[in-house]
Amino acid sequence: MRRWICGTLLTVSGLGFGEDTMVTVGSVLDVRFDKLGPPRAGSQSVTVWGGDMSQTASSPFNYDESLTPLIATMSPEKTTVIDAQRIDSVSPRWGGMNGAMRFTIKGDGFAQERQFQLNPTNNDFGNRVTLVSATLSFPCDVERDSTHGRQIMCYTRAMPEDTYLVHVSVDGVPIPDNKVCRGWGIWDCSLYTRWWQTPTIQSISPTTGPPGTVVTITGRIFTDVYGSNTATSTNGINSRFLRAYMGGMPCELLKPDSDELYRLHLDSEHSWWGYMSCRMTGTYVGHHNLSYILDADYGRSLPDKNLFRISAGNKLSMFQTYAEVTGVSPSEGSVLGGTLVTIQGRFFDETDHPAVVLVGGKPCRVQSLSDDIITCITPKQPMETGNVTAYPGGRGWVRQVWNATWPWDLSVILTYTTSKDGYWSEWRDSLPYSSGFQDQTYCSRLRGFLVAPTSGDYTLYLKCDGLCDLYFSNSTRPEDKVKIAFQTHYWGIPPKSEVMALEKGKA
Ligand SMILES: *[C@@H]1O[C@H](CO)[C@@H](O)[C@H](O)[C@H]1NC(C)=O
Ligand SMILES: *[C@@H]1O[C@H](CO)[C@@H](O)[C@H](O)[C@H]1NC(C)=O
Ligand SMILES: *[C@@H]1O[C@H](CO)[C@@H](O)[C@H](O)[C@H]1NC(C)=O
Ligand SMILES: *[C@@H]1O[C@H](CO)[C@@H](O)[C@H](O)[C@H]1NC(C)=O
Repeated sequence: MRRWICGTLLTVSGLGFGEDTMVTVGSVLDVRFDKLGPPRAGSQSVTVWGGDMSQTASSPFNYDESLTPLIATMSPEKTTVIDAQRIDSVSPRWGGMNGAMRFTIKGDGFAQERQFQLNPTNNDFGNRVTLVSATLSFPCDVERDSTHGRQIMCYTRAMPEDTYLVHVSVDGVPIPDNKVCRGWGIWDCSLYTRWWQTPTIQSISPTTGPPGTVVTITGRIFTDVYGSNTATSTNGINSRFLRAYMGGMPCELLKPDSDELYRLHLDSEHSWWGYMSCRMTGTYVGHHNLSYILDADYGRSLPDKNLFRISAGNKLSMFQTYAEVTGVSPSEGSVLGGTLVTIQGRFFDETDHPAVVLVGGKPCRVQSLSDDIITCITPKQPMETGNVTAYPGGRGWVRQVWNATWPWDLSVILTYTTSKDGYWSEWRDSLPYSSGFQDQTYCSRLRGFLVAPTSGDYTLYLKCDGLCDLYFSNSTRPEDKVKIAFQTHYWGIPPKSEVMALEKGKA
């Protein structure tokens, strides 16, 4: 079987060839008319890209059906067989470790990837690139649009630091090692993945928020240039931010309808380190990882391991989105239940879980749900005896602050009221929290409900600056609280509670 690797010229004779004429030749991937003139009888030249000649004779033709069909005959006139398949060079030589880096292979005799793939299940067609170290091997995903007979462009996957020799096979036939950089492939045709070529994410803030939150990362970002801009970064590095992603959705670096970046700058003119901010898109509520991609020799960012938090569903992630409730009506109803309640809010997303509504800790039967409205029917609710003074509700903590106050005994704070001088309060959606203002004298109290994600033995640690106490109530009644951990000086070693058995899902 003889292969037509590239550019075999055939003459097709027949009638009714037109703009829409398609020619298929056996398993040949693509046959194009060199000149697409008006429909006419007679001969027409076509160029065949790839395929094998053994199938030529039985090849069917598709013709313009509006014209008289005529079985065409074809004969090879000139075949250009390129058996000199080889790799001459690769670039870059040093690259990032976390994939998404564009890798270019130059040489000759590669398959023409721009063709339409007739048989997508046949993996042998076209160019297959593998990057192989002494112990590991990774595919490099070929970018068809930028690949032709003398060049292959592919995108790397995440690959640990190592030296990877490039292997290419064309239509299932590997290019032998002695044709890879003239046999010097291990030196000249290898990719070295290195930590110092890898963009990083060292911190992310905030780590929770509704969809659409603007998130800021710090890390080794290499460049302060975004987009197709050809400018060079202020530190002289020729690379640009291409995209950022939060989960599967783009995280936009530009403010809506403008050319203005949220934030993208290096720590100093010559630094590799800096800040980048982007706004999440989409309405998904759940857990996300953030990454960004730089062009040139860098690729996708690698996050620090300590940025991952464990979700209640035991998944690691860097960011958690949540829905918001903005209103409930009516706000009163019968103890016998049966009240139709309308809950207004944002991002009522049921992608991962159906919505659950609790009223007074009991399920409210959901009647309808859209992005911003849920209706439900309240359950029967026994009359309260006056024992309960606080109810678990949505997420977050209430932070109460008394400015210009520094009591020597923290228990005094328990007697402070909202009418005391300097009082203000805020709601925080998660912990840890850093107030940001340092040279201030103030005391504050954070209050909230803790819902254990799984049943088990828990130790609570207290990490704070200065004096602090941690109180814990075993019921939902704040009156039942006992002090379980405290700090009198900042030692750096966080004080901790005794081991406590907590039950999953209970506030
Ligand atoms: C985030 O990345 C970590 C580490 O690669 C992975 O284990 C986790 O499944 C990812 N989480 C999500 C929500 O994709
Ligand atoms: C009220 O609270 C106390 C103390 O926690 C408890 O012993 C009592 O059973 C509660 N009464 C009711 C009716 O829930
Ligand atoms: C408390 O101090 C902070 C920080 O200086 C200030 O922003 C805030 O307005 C003050 N609040 C009150 C109620 O004094
Ligand atoms: C709360 O109850 C659990 C389980 O009964 C117990 O292990 C723990 O010591 C209690 N904690 C406090 C602070 O009362």
